Parts: sequence; C-alpha cells; structure tokens
Amino acid sequence: MNHDIIIALDFPSAADVYSFLDQFREEKPYVKIGMELFYAEGPEIVRQIKARGHKIFLDLKLHDIPNTVKSAMRVLSRLDVDMVNLHAAGTVDMMRAALEGLTREDGTRPLLLAVTQLTSTSEERMREELLISASMSDTVRHYARNAKMAGLDGGVCSPLEAALVKEACGPDFATVTPGIRFADSASDDQRRVMTPARARQSGSDYIVVGRPITRSQDPVAAYRRCVKEFLGETAF
Ligand code: C5P
Repeated sequence: MNHDIIIALDFPSAADVYSFLDQFREEKPYVKIGMELFYAEGPEIVRQIKARGHKIFLDLKLHDIPNTVKSAMRVLSRLDVDMVNLHAAGTVDMMRAALEGLTREDGTRPLLLAVTQLTSTSEERMREELLISASMSDTVRHYARNAKMAGLDGGVCSPLEAALVKEACGPDFATVTPGIRFADSASDDQRRVMTPARARQSGSDYIVVGRPITRSQDPVAAYRRCVKEFLGETAF
C-alpha cells in the first residue's frame, strides 16, 4: 500500500495555483484538484499540472444514474489523473458502472475511491433529513463494504473512521483522509481533526492537507513537516 501527502489546491484560479506550485523546487507533491478549480479552469488545468509532473487526485465526487456516471468517468479517464472519486450513496450499480467507464482500453485506470459520508454530515442530519437511522459508524462501515463489493480501491473518510474502514474492508482497501492539522495549528472550520502522525497510526494511507500548507508562510517547510510526521522520513 502506498502512503502519501496530498495537497488540496483550493485556489480560485490557475494563476494562484501556479504561483503556489512554483515554490516547490525539489519535490513534486501529490495534489488534489476539487470542484472550485475544475469548474473555473476546466480540464486544461489538470493537463497543465500533470505536465509539471504532479500526481493528481481529481475530487469531483460524482453521483448520478449509473449510465451518466459511467460516461463521465470515461471522459475523466482520458485526463490521466491518478485518483478520482464518487459518492457511495449512488449505489453499488453506480459504482460498478463508474469502474467500467474509468477503465481504459489497455486495462489501466486511476484509483477509484468512494466518499462514505461527508464529514460535514452529522448523525442527527442523517436521521432527520436523510431518514438514515443507523449510526454514523455503521453507515460508514456499510458504505465502505458496498464500495469494496463494487470493486473500488478505497474510501474517503475522516481519520477517525479510517480504522473501522480498514477493519471492515481489509488492509488493501485504501483510506484517504482530510481533516489534518499540526498539533500547534488552527483547526479552521474543521471540527474533528488529527495530526499527520496520529492519522498514520489510525490507518490513513493518504492524508489530504489544505490550509496548514497552502496558508502557511512557508508552504514548502509545512509540506516537509507533513512528510516527516506522516511518512516518518528524515530526508529533509
Ligand atoms: O484546508 P483543509 O486542510 O481543511 O482542506 C481539506 C480539503 O479536504 C478541502 O479541499 C476539503 O474540501 C476536503 N474535504 C474535507 N472533508 C471531507 C471531504 C473533503 O475537508 N469530508
């Protein structure tokens, strides 16, 4: 199982992204492109960042009827990204269709991950608005199992749920976790946070880190601190 730090490129424009990435001279961090940047700049931003040598997690969280998701995934597979995702709530049929669409003619494909429950959704909201009476843990576990049954590679979840996802789906089912903060940094709008080191101990394979790196006065130093804490490397 690979482990890495993925920087969330939550910037409004390509110009902002490039001036951020230009600061990295010695390393090529794995990056996440989300809806804001993708909708603002289109697929070209993906091609440009890929051409600079970065691995890319395209975080578009697809959720639609199986046929539409399959067609959309076919288009995304041509972008040569390394990881894409969808909502497990779209059903096992939708996830299977997504996998089919994503697989290129030569059999290769990006990793496909399922969002189990958004970390912004509370148990109360699930019960009252979505009429899901099961607990958060049971729901996350069940959705992760569905994703595994559909043949997906892993799940996006809170670092607090990584262990239960691993327990339910096995060590080869990848866990990608946002909500990461250094012990001495602000939590911003994130409620339930974990340090890189604790996330690793708790079963996270990839951590998604945004503001602790992008808003840092020295983003390269903050990234290197993450690498050290999460991967335990002493290279820097
Ligand atoms: O700045 P911060 O480290 O909080 O950024 C976390 C990134 O992970 C953001 O891009 C956010 O949208 C994303 N994310 C999250 N919680 C989820 C899913 C995605 O924070 N449940």
